[in-house]
Amino acid sequence: MNVKTIYPVSGLKGEVTIPGDKSISHRAIMFGSISLGTTEITHFLNGADCRSTIDCFRKMGIQITEEKQKIFVHGKGLYGLEAPNEILHVGNSGTTTRLISGILAGQSFSSILSGDDSLNSRPMGRIMTPLNQMGAHITSMEGNGCAPLSITPGRIHGISYTSPVASAQVKSAILLAGLYGDNKTSVTEPSLSRNHTELMLKSYGADISSTIHPDGSATASVKPCSQLYAQPVCVPGDISSAAYFIAAGLCVPGSELLIKNVGINPTRAGFLEVCQAMGADITLLNESCEGGEKKADILVRTSCLKGITIEGALIPTLIDEIPIIAIMASQAAGTTIIKDAGELKVKETNRINTVTEGLRAMGTDITPTEDGMIIQGSCPQSNGRPLKGACINSYLDHRIAMAFTVAGLICEGETKILNSQCVEVSYPSFFQTLAALI
Ligand code: S3P
Repeated sequence: MNVKTIYPVSGLKGEVTIPGDKSISHRAIMFGSISLGTTEITHFLNGADCRSTIDCFRKMGIQITEEKQKIFVHGKGLYGLEAPNEILHVGNSGTTTRLISGILAGQSFSSILSGDDSLNSRPMGRIMTPLNQMGAHITSMEGNGCAPLSITPGRIHGISYTSPVASAQVKSAILLAGLYGDNKTSVTEPSLSRNHTELMLKSYGADISSTIHPDGSATASVKPCSQLYAQPVCVPGDISSAAYFIAAGLCVPGSELLIKNVGINPTRAGFLEVCQAMGADITLLNESCEGGEKKADILVRTSCLKGITIEGALIPTLIDEIPIIAIMASQAAGTTIIKDAGELKVKETNRINTVTEGLRAMGTDITPTEDGMIIQGSCPQSNGRPLKGACINSYLDHRIAMAFTVAGLICEGETKILNSQCVEVSYPSFFQTLAALI
């Protein structure tokens, strides 16, 4: 087991260029594989999750080459995948599992998907139900609603599906299967989740549309497609990775950081809204847009934060940032309430539990709830008690490891992060990048 020891610091200064967005990197490999032509990907995230996606498509006969920091996906079109000779290993990656299931549902061969212990305990009924309604035959091989999944394709029919959760993974799986359908497929979700699939599939030539309804629910629809066509993809930096450095810049006394190349697609940028509502000194610079994906550099200075309530439609736009928001909340004046975030329980760990365990060990007053948490902030600028160093088990959850590393920077005493190697999932260079700022 890897253990990282973190010591308190002051005055983080410098620039950080954020690695590619995990969600967009996965999609570029997947959509590139099922389109005609070569997809050239710039600033691809070379993390363990996206490598799992590459491995799966290589096992289905797709040539994926790597040259001079670029990835080339030599797509074979919607019907060009070959039957894999072995199980498709998806590692720790929920995105690989759920999105690839939508694609596999439309193939003419059977396949099996399996991942690590965490992945194999996450709920897959949420994609099995709609994909089976569309005509696929997906079963949980252990009968527990989780992977390993056995996928036997069937004739795919378009459906109108109402998803009980705002989940881009569920929406994307259904839309991808819909490409292979016999008529239009629509997915309605309670509020809009990240829309990278819609933006990228449109640029690849799919007939896809989306609407936000007056009650805040959102529908995405796709028509059956005869072919997709490769497009170059320039991946913006991952705001979920940037969030650790933004939080560190805000909370470590005397800091000023320029965080470069951050994707700020509005369906992902709830973290920035939260920072602003908490009183953070952050400035967006050099805003631009490519392939429908907005990006900017973000200048961050140490700030006095205040507690806020985070709920409703904002939650899907920052779901992966909640562990680091909880650390910021522990430093804020007043109470932070996070609600409507029951999805935290089915991430790489149950993040309501893992955040509560870690912050309690550091001395924060935190109460877990059914759908979130309540955190009593202890603001250092108002003579609040500082966090105390602790031994934090990440339980192999990359976002827990990185969030508590940032907490370790503002603790009294040393902090140990157990199983710290899991940062490889989304940010392999995280510790080196942090060390360069200290
Ligand atoms: C993702 C969607 C989110 C997010 C995950 C990546 C995606 O999951 O938590 O890290 O790339 O579509 P849900 O769709 O389950 O909310």
